[in-house]
Amino acid sequence: CGVVGVTGNKDATEILVSGLEKLQYRGYDSAGIFVDQPDGTDYLVKTTGSIADLRKKIGPEVQGTAGIGHTRWATHGGVTIENAHPQFSSDERFYLVHNGVIENFQALKDEYLQGVHFHSQTDTEVVVQLIDKFVKEGMSTKDAFNKTLALLENSSYAFMLMDREEPETIYVAKNKSPMLIGLGDGCNVVCSDSIAMLNVTHTFLEIQDGDMCIVKPDEVIVNDADGNVVERETFEVSVDPSASDKGTYPYYMLKEIDEQPNVMRKLSAEYLDEAGHPKLDADLVDAIKGSDRIYIVGAGTSYHAGLVGKMQLEKLTGIPAEVHVASEFAYEDPLLSEKPFFIFLSQSGETADSRQVLVNVNKQKLPSLTITNVANSTLSRESTFTLLLQAGPEISVASTKAYTAQIALEAILAKAVGEAKENQAALDFDLKGQLAVVAQGMQSIVDEKNEINQIAEDYFVDANQAFYIGRGIDYTVSIEAALKLKEISYVHAEGFASGELKHGTIALIEPGTPVIGIITQAGTAGLTRSNLEETAARGAKTLSIVKKSLARPEDTFVIPDVDELLTPLLSVIPAQLLAYYTSLNKGLNVDLPRNLAKSVTVE
Ligand code: G6P
Repeated sequence: CGVVGVTGNKDATEILVSGLEKLQYRGYDSAGIFVDQPDGTDYLVKTTGSIADLRKKIGPEVQGTAGIGHTRWATHGGVTIENAHPQFSSDERFYLVHNGVIENFQALKDEYLQGVHFHSQTDTEVVVQLIDKFVKEGMSTKDAFNKTLALLENSSYAFMLMDREEPETIYVAKNKSPMLIGLGDGCNVVCSDSIAMLNVTHTFLEIQDGDMCIVKPDEVIVNDADGNVVERETFEVSVDPSASDKGTYPYYMLKEIDEQPNVMRKLSAEYLDEAGHPKLDADLVDAIKGSDRIYIVGAGTSYHAGLVGKMQLEKLTGIPAEVHVASEFAYEDPLLSEKPFFIFLSQSGETADSRQVLVNVNKQKLPSLTITNVANSTLSRESTFTLLLQAGPEISVASTKAYTAQIALEAILAKAVGEAKENQAALDFDLKGQLAVVAQGMQSIVDEKNEINQIAEDYFVDANQAFYIGRGIDYTVSIEAALKLKEISYVHAEGFASGELKHGTIALIEPGTPVIGIITQAGTAGLTRSNLEETAARGAKTLSIVKKSLARPEDTFVIPDVDELLTPLLSVIPAQLLAYYTSLNKGLNVDLPRNLAKSVTVE
């Protein structure tokens, strides 16, 4: 979910709604705002659906100088207007927006709120009703808020609370969920991501877990977890908001697929010198060089990029590497090596599952690097080192350019550490030359959109299942390719280690089932081809994505030759486009697929 707030600005409504538009990547099941004015007039507008639907519902009369807003990715309670935020207390004095999950909400409801009428099924309503109850018992709003916060167990939250009796004040609290306060000129704003408020300010205050803040038009008071008033550091954010413009593209996803050749060139220019040697922070390179094992952590597509990174790092540095799904690793209590180094991969830098691992890592004072697309994001702020993907904002929910940027940057990192260790494989690796080949190769594939569109129409639009298969690095791309298809076209797809298919899953192959083989590694090409044949013999419609030097006339997509450690950068592109055109031809909303959010800030 995404939250926004503003106080001290007569354009509060517009600031909230345009802020929510920018935060839509955090969820878009439903949305709402509450605005008020010093004279006591106030408005609550909520809707199911997207921010565009909310905008349509807001009449010209809905004006205020302060307010809070929310865009939801449902956790507790279905997608209904009642469950949309802001949630309010029974007598409509308090309004609350919340990102996160209150784990003990049912226990609190049973213990403190017997007899109170609830209008929603959300965990959030319990919090606002509790605050109201404590105020009715004689507490100030601030004390009631603090008392309520103290009752929340194992919970994550970014809260903004408004009290109709203090129309210009926003009470803010944060634990685990991201939240920033922006300092404006005569007004202040609050948001879960600075991108929401860059049209108001570029100066933000970093609030920390356990903080409770009081935000007024001309003052911000931050109390730490012990109740002491503290100063928190400010930082400047400089992002060009126009970079998030879709231009003439029908969907962001297609724009972002097309941007990949340029992202490769940009990464090469930014992180490699004239002679092709990596230009990275020497302390970072030393820290990895001195480690005995690298732990790579990510979720979704970032996890898939990590699988490629493991191979690159091991081959070029000789340091063993493991890759972990963040949500699993966070609670595994793993047996770590003596000198571990952690690499977090996260496009957004906000994923709660990954952040939970980082919290554990920081508790043990272990070194870490975050590779992210978002400067100043939570993971970037909290890890020892950061490398930025420089890919420009990725807006479409299905990740494309961040995946390829992560893989390219992991290769740069692996070469840097490998060179520092004087590893021959790293010294011989012409990464700069190869990234130039990749950029050109990507361009030649994205220029074949019509053919890919046709294949999507012929074989995928009516399919109810599909399989991508491959071995080694091609297997890692298979699972990413299948994820793309699932996410946006709702075709059930799986990526499989091609040798493993025959041990069970081949039972699912039916006449016409599309099976796509990814073949870019000379050592295993023949084997994967045999596995494709096995599915064809059972009626599958087989297709292939094959590196030029291994290609045969019958192959479907032939991709340019490139070093075996970089082939995912090319083999994934036809798969991204196949998913895109399947979704488009099915008439779906490519950028905002059902049930998903781009950045998931709950565990
Ligand atoms: C969400 C998105 C995925 C993404 C994953 C990890 O589930 O829908 O596309 O891969 O989060 O996101 P991150 O920002 O950490 O890379």
